[in-house]
Order: sequence, then C-alpha cells, then structure tokens
Amino acid sequence: MTKILVATQKPFAKVAVDGIRTEIENAGFQFELLEKYTEKKQLLDAVKDVEAIIIRSDKVDNEVFDAAKSLKIVVRAGAGYDNVDLEAATAHHVCVMNTPGQNSNAVAELAFGLLVFAVRNFYNGTSGTELKGKKLGILAFGNVGRNVARVAKGFGMEVYAYDAFCPKTAIEEAGVHAVDSTEALFEKCDVVSLHIPATAETKQSINYAMVNKMPKGGLLLNTARKEVINEDELIKLMQERTDLKYITDIMPDQNDKFVELFAGRYFSTPKKMGAQTAEANINAGIAAAKQIVGFIKDGCEKFRVNK
Ligand code: 3PG
Repeated sequence: MTKILVATQKPFAKVAVDGIRTEIENAGFQFELLEKYTEKKQLLDAVKDVEAIIIRSDKVDNEVFDAAKSLKIVVRAGAGYDNVDLEAATAHHVCVMNTPGQNSNAVAELAFGLLVFAVRNFYNGTSGTELKGKKLGILAFGNVGRNVARVAKGFGMEVYAYDAFCPKTAIEEAGVHAVDSTEALFEKCDVVSLHIPATAETKQSINYAMVNKMPKGGLLLNTARKEVINEDELIKLMQERTDLKYITDIMPDQNDKFVELFAGRYFSTPKKMGAQTAEANINAGIAAAKQIVGFIKDGCEKFRVNK
C-alpha cells in the first residue's frame, strides 16, 4: 500500500495530525508518523519505503532523497522551502510543493504579540509606547505581509510596504503605502517587519547599513528567517545605537551574545512559534495531505516549486 509519512521535528497539534491521518486513510493510503526525532538516521530509516512526505522546517537533502527510493513527492506544510534541496529533488525525480498562505494568519498574529511585548518594555512595569500612529514597514508583501497589514490597520498604524516582486499598484490596492526600495522602507518606518524568504539574494541582506537607516527608537521584527540577518553587523550597530531593538521568532546563531549585550532591547522566542497554532497546523497539514492525494491520484502539480 502507498505509504505517506509525516516527518516533523516540531510536531503539529494533535488535532491536525488526526485530520491529516483521516485525509490520507480516506484516500486509501497508509499513514506513517515520525515526530520529535532527534537524529537524522531516524528520518533516513523512516523514509525508506514511502512515496510521499509531509514536513515542516525539517531538512530534506540529497542524503534523504538517496535513502527514499520510492519517493515521489515532498510537501512542505508551510511557506518557506529553503530547508529542501530542490536541485537534489529534481535530480531524484521528486516533486516538491509548499502550501502557501495556510499558516500566514498565525505568523501575523504572533508578529503583533511580539510587537506589543517589545513596545511595552517586555512587561517590566515601566511606561512603554503604543503602536497607534507609528509607521510600520512590511518587507515583502506576500501572504504573511498582507495579514500583518490587515492587523496593523486595526492598531491604527500607518502601513508601508516594499516587495521586489509585487507591483506597487497591488500594494496600494490593499490600502498600504508602497515605497520604492528596501532602503526607503527602513528610512521611513519606526517598525520594520521582515517577511522575505531566505534566498541567495536576501541572505545577510539586513545589515549594518540597512538597519542604520531606521529613525531613532527603531524596532526590527523578524518572523521570517535568521539567515536574512547579518548578525555580526547587527550586533555592531546595536552596540553603537542604543536606541534600536531587535525582536525575533527565529533564534540567531549568536543568541547568547545578543542576550548578554542587549538586555531590554532584544528578545527571541526559544523555538520558532509563528506557525504554532492548531488552526495553522490544520490548514497547512491538511492542505499538504490533499495536495499529495491530488498528485498521486490525478497528477496535479499545483504549488510545485521545483523544476
Ligand atoms: C513557514 O515557512 O511556513 C514558517 O516559517 C513556519 O515554519 P514551521 O512549520 O517550521 O513552524
């Protein structure tokens, strides 16, 4: 029988796992589950005879494709697929998909949880500031960016966005001020919220010169990827500019240094929490299961991201 594996180091909510199981079994396939694994070998063993895998931020590289002799499709239940080696997938004739939009509200809500926490001085009892009337810059106007804009309007923020791949007219149609460049966004906004994927172009792009463009008291929020930050340069800048704050949902490699140097100006969640809601897990997990069923039964390749 066709086996479909859910392999998640960071597990979905149980209700989502149950939903995925039902979707897969109703289609006549066998459901397999590998959760909270700690060694790569566990993944390599689990993929041996499966035709499809649902993952989250789990790394799927050439070694995994080599071990998975029957594999036809990998679906990343979520947006970013920088954890999957797309070239290796194509070389192994494996289709890779993501599930765009399915967890974006969860990430946007967490962004505001973190923002309120930051501007109220981490709830330390002192007077903080409000978000109302502040300028928010959204870097990349995809599914998460759009949700962030929607929530920001409820807070009464002035919302700006830049997206290298989205026309200005589409941003303006969403009731958001479009600016001409990433630099312009940083120059203009009190708060910048990152929603760019980790690509060759974006990695390390949030650097000293970029963040230094922010006005006094600037707050940088990262619910995207740690790789887009140039950590050495951000540390150097925050040492020079004691007005800046950095809040992130993806712990930097140099977390200890940030903690030591920037008390009251830095916070990281211990584990990426953006998509960790039952709703997001259900939406993304079941979408992934449906996409696999559609691919195996009907050859549907919607949401394919590799060649
Ligand atoms: C995504 O790319 O969808 C988000 O970063 C969520 O990732 P996660 O599924 O590992 O929480």
